[in-house]
Amino acid sequence: MDRMVIEGGHQLNGHVDVGGAKNSALKLLFASLLAEGKHTFHNVPNLADVGSAAVLLNSLGCETHRSGTTFTVNVKKPQSFEAHYDLVRKMRASILCLGPLLAKYGEAVVSLPGGCAIGTRPIDLHLEGMKALGATITLEEGYVKARAKKLKGANFLFETSTVGGTENVMMAATLAEGITVLENAAKEPEIVDLAEYLNKMGAKIKGHGTSVITIEGVEKLKPAEHTVMSDRIEAGTLLIAGAMTGGEVTVNRIHPAHIEALIVKLKEAGFKISQTDLSVTVHRQIGWRAVDITTNPYPLFPTDIQAQFMALMTIAEGTSVITETVFENRFMHVQELCRLGADITPKTRVAVVRGKPGGLIAAPVMATDLRASASLVLAGLVAKGATVVNRIYHLDRGYENLEGKLTQLGAKIKRIE
Ligand code: EPZ
Repeated sequence: MDRMVIEGGHQLNGHVDVGGAKNSALKLLFASLLAEGKHTFHNVPNLADVGSAAVLLNSLGCETHRSGTTFTVNVKKPQSFEAHYDLVRKMRASILCLGPLLAKYGEAVVSLPGGCAIGTRPIDLHLEGMKALGATITLEEGYVKARAKKLKGANFLFETSTVGGTENVMMAATLAEGITVLENAAKEPEIVDLAEYLNKMGAKIKGHGTSVITIEGVEKLKPAEHTVMSDRIEAGTLLIAGAMTGGEVTVNRIHPAHIEALIVKLKEAGFKISQTDLSVTVHRQIGWRAVDITTNPYPLFPTDIQAQFMALMTIAEGTSVITETVFENRFMHVQELCRLGADITPKTRVAVVRGKPGGLIAAPVMATDLRASASLVLAGLVAKGATVVNRIYHLDRGYENLEGKLTQLGAKIKRIE
């Protein structure tokens, strides 16, 4: 079981490049199922979750190949249209092969993903959207069985803003007959990246990035080539790492607009931030104010940066109220941060963080989910002594070589097999 040992007290300084976005790459790979032939993707991060997506695509008869950060998927007509439980349980985003398989082949059998550490993660809105397009959906022995002779365009209102739901139904609608209008669609940049790839494949999508997306169905799509957008969550994580250690860190290859909500909060806390078209810099700052955050769908404060920001608040001056509105159980990092000496009171969806500058002391802690593990690594950068983060495989799902990037900036961090 991999562990990571972080020696606290080293200031991070310098430049670091952000990799490709996990939460875009996974969907782009599944979108390739909409058109047989060879799809080419650049800037694909080398992550455990991408590996899982490749295994699923291979199980559907595709040939996948990685060379550096270029990933190709050669799609052939699948022998079966089933995404098996063993694959889906490892990576719940596999549910996003449902829309493409249903639209392209008229059938899909996808294991229900089940919940995860941060919440129940239902997919009811994915399924409601498919039904709106004319699909017949049954749930049998833990699998979603979807069928449709030919999907028909429809208007569909998402009662909750859902990234995966918007992506799944948008992909399905590309081959439906007629026009589909998705209302209260999610506006995350990853959805824009996906829609842009689908349009390169010949889809007719408009309004992506706004809450109303219109898709005019087409007969056929063709394989294309695309460069995955940068990972805004990795960028935010690296920026907070610099801020916490009182260093000056520039994160390259990121559009500042993609992490605007974080930049606003860092400035509110007293940090000086500068930016160019494709980089953001946090400047040296000893001592910062506690600020409140509330997570919400894009462009508001991202739930995927909540745990990392909480780590920053544990050593701020004052009390920060952190409200998590997106997932019902995304405070698994709280007790572990408290093991490091943080003073946090978690309630339902709200955590009160009483900041104590210099207050963290190293201890063994346990990673429970992807972003919680990032939060613990950040806390380890400033905790006095050597912090051991156990179950670090959670981190590998969404960060490529985080320890290498932090070491490059001056951290003393090593992985123990
Ligand atoms: C995506 O998950 C991301 N994962 C998550 O990142 C991210 O936290 C989340 O979007 C929100 O931004 C990927 O892109 C692979 P949702 P997703 O559907 O699509 C409820 C990370 O750390 N909901 O937008 O599953 C749901 O319960 C991961 O990289 C329904 O009720 O999130 C939640 O409360 C974690 N019914 C809210 O919507 C549905 O059918 C938002 O979920 C679907 C969702």
